[in-house]
Amino acid sequence: MQETTALLQIKNLRKQYGAVEVLKGVDLSLNKGEVVSIIGSSGSGKTTLLRCVNLLEEFQHGEIVLDGEVIGYQSSIDGQRHRLKDRELSRQRSMTGMVFQSFNLFPHLNAAGNVMLGLRKVRRMGQAEAREIAEKWLDRVGLLARKDNFPSQLSGGQQQRVAIARALAMNPKLVLLDEITSALDPELVQEVLTTVKSIADDGATLLLVTHEMRFARDVSNRVVFMEQGRIIEDDTPDEIFNRPKNERLASFLKSTRN
Ligand SMILES: Nc1ncnc2c1ncn2[C@@H]1O[C@H](COP(=O)(O)OP(=O)(O)O)[C@@H](O)[C@H]1O
Ligand SMILES: [Mg+2]
Repeated sequence: MQETTALLQIKNLRKQYGAVEVLKGVDLSLNKGEVVSIIGSSGSGKTTLLRCVNLLEEFQHGEIVLDGEVIGYQSSIDGQRHRLKDRELSRQRSMTGMVFQSFNLFPHLNAAGNVMLGLRKVRRMGQAEAREIAEKWLDRVGLLARKDNFPSQLSGGQQQRVAIARALAMNPKLVLLDEITSALDPELVQEVLTTVKSIADDGATLLLVTHEMRFARDVSNRVVFMEQGRIIEDDTPDEIFNRPKNERLASFLKSTRN
């Protein structure tokens, strides 16, 4: 049998902002259907890593391969790497879906309109087909009855569920979730986590950054601990939370329990 190739492979990724190196050689791979959580202190490079995968950031060194395709750059014969043209970046970016901490819904569009927008503009679907898919996904996140509501008429948890529906409706190969419950009132966190869990159970491939340790433990196949631009532990939730090998991971976990 053929060895399974990873859906996402990040190889020796280095990223600088000016003179400051914020990713210092990150290697990470994810198989189809896997859920991997990234944990780590603020400033360790978690968001930057997701933004590189979603081609929202340029990076100076290394390679990201998504479903067999090198993304973001191509090399010329002389070995120089070049950022791809916007059109090509957009096409590759649409292979991933991203959900942000701050929802990022369009305020002038209702819930259905927000979910339909990418289907119409990027996937070039007709109105009827886009509406059908949007309604299917709003139903999936428990918000079909709210399809005509504008973001301002929805709670933070509902807005975030619309954002999840919007990402999933595009049928991405990989979904990136960056601390999607961090901006929510505590009583709204669970409904969003439950939604993510059910999407994970359906077989979606997820790379997520979270401060919710219990959630990371419940939902993940693997948990990755980042510190100062490096992955310093990558293991099963059981090993990470019950038998941390690195001192810094152990003290990070202790700090999150306070
Ligand atoms: N646009 C930017 N310009 C300069 N430095 C940045 C920028 N974005 C992030 N950084 C720096 O990169 C480091 C990693 O940030 P980030 O990826 O946001 O970490 P995390 O998501 O783990 O909190 C931090 O030191 C941060 O200050
Ligand atoms: Mg962040």
